[in-house]
Amino acid sequence: MLLLIKNIKELLQVRDTNVTIVKGKDMKVLPILKNAYVLIEHDTIVEFGSMDDFEDLDADEVIDATGKIVLPTWCDSHTHIVYAGDRTQEFVDRINGLSYEDIANRGGGILNSAETLQNTSEDALYDQAAKRLHNVIKLGTGAIEIKSGYGLTVEAELKMLRVIKKLKHDFPISIKPTLLAAHAIPEGFKDNKTGFIDVVVNEMIPAVAKEHLADYIDVFCEKGYFDLEDTERILKAGIEHGMIPKIHVNQFNAFGGIAIGVKYNALSVDHLEELNDDDISVLKTSNTIPVALPSCSYFLSIPYTPGRQIIDAGLPLALATDYNPGSTPSGNMNFVVSTACIKMKLTPEEAINAATINGAHAMGISNRYGSICRGKIANLIITKELPSYYHLPYAFGDNHIETVIINGQVF
Ligand code: NIG
Ligand code: FE
Repeated sequence: MLLLIKNIKELLQVRDTNVTIVKGKDMKVLPILKNAYVLIEHDTIVEFGSMDDFEDLDADEVIDATGKIVLPTWCDSHTHIVYAGDRTQEFVDRINGLSYEDIANRGGGILNSAETLQNTSEDALYDQAAKRLHNVIKLGTGAIEIKSGYGLTVEAELKMLRVIKKLKHDFPISIKPTLLAAHAIPEGFKDNKTGFIDVVVNEMIPAVAKEHLADYIDVFCEKGYFDLEDTERILKAGIEHGMIPKIHVNQFNAFGGIAIGVKYNALSVDHLEELNDDDISVLKTSNTIPVALPSCSYFLSIPYTPGRQIIDAGLPLALATDYNPGSTPSGNMNFVVSTACIKMKLTPEEAINAATINGAHAMGISNRYGSICRGKIANLIITKELPSYYHLPYAFGDNHIETVIINGQVF
């Protein structure tokens, strides 16, 4: 099966060599071919180039992309799309003056979602998550990480991770599962946090590892949730069971969590709305990629991750949605890219690099996803007719996507 996309106005993120991450100043460069074509065989990009050099061939299917932009699908490296129900009442409570913290302190927030999830069957949970996943693919996401973390018991965490496994089986995009083992302290362990961490370390992590349900281990390292010592203990246990750390850190407070992530070779440290100079310094010594989640800042009205400062320090940056019922009920990477430009002052080139190749890196899959490269998986967005790729972030809130191609097939 040969699919040809021709007359492409702008083909974005073309990489001859296998670039798997872009950092610092290099993030300002987004390699582009104008008046281009891409040739796909089965699920793989086999050739691309300028229409000037194009020699006509017999393709099984031809898409004429005159006036349109083609780019790699978004790589969303941080989501919690497997959840039950919603938190609309808390949304209204926040409008009426309560803070995210107030709601958590009265037993709402993550504990609220955990209670709903515990009372939802695996099939019902799958159906809800599958709808969200379908929608985000239509919005251009072609690779995604999905976390557990609304179970808070061994049984309910396994239920979430089995749902992720089934999504992985049923959907054509790349899905990376993460055990978010310690997301909140369950009601029953309110005065016994250590007891809960004992369960996580001695029961939950081994049970998940036994069924091979998670590639990554995550902790919500935050005041009122899990401190540095707790985080360290859980990361160590995850690593012993073959999982790679990828942590929630510096969302509301900066107190050294990034250094713990770096110490345990975290693939990524995510959130970083609060960031100090020591955090930047320690990141510079590491291979850990910072991940910003601007839709979360938007929804909670908290500071945006200082992406400008991160990139100007020579570091890489990835962008992801954080799609979850409490802090970001949206999985729209187009909005993320736009918001990163508007609120974090990333250039369109930086934001697109952060949401494609660097997002893929933050999931450990940038050798196969995140750029237009010969031999990579053919996951592509074809936009509607647009004046230029600047319109993707500029004309925010519009759906600019006409077609999403996953594994070489129209989704
Ligand atoms: O990434 N910060 C921790 N976890 C989620 C939100 C959890 C929730 O409120 O349900 C996040 O923002
Ligand atoms: Fe999150």
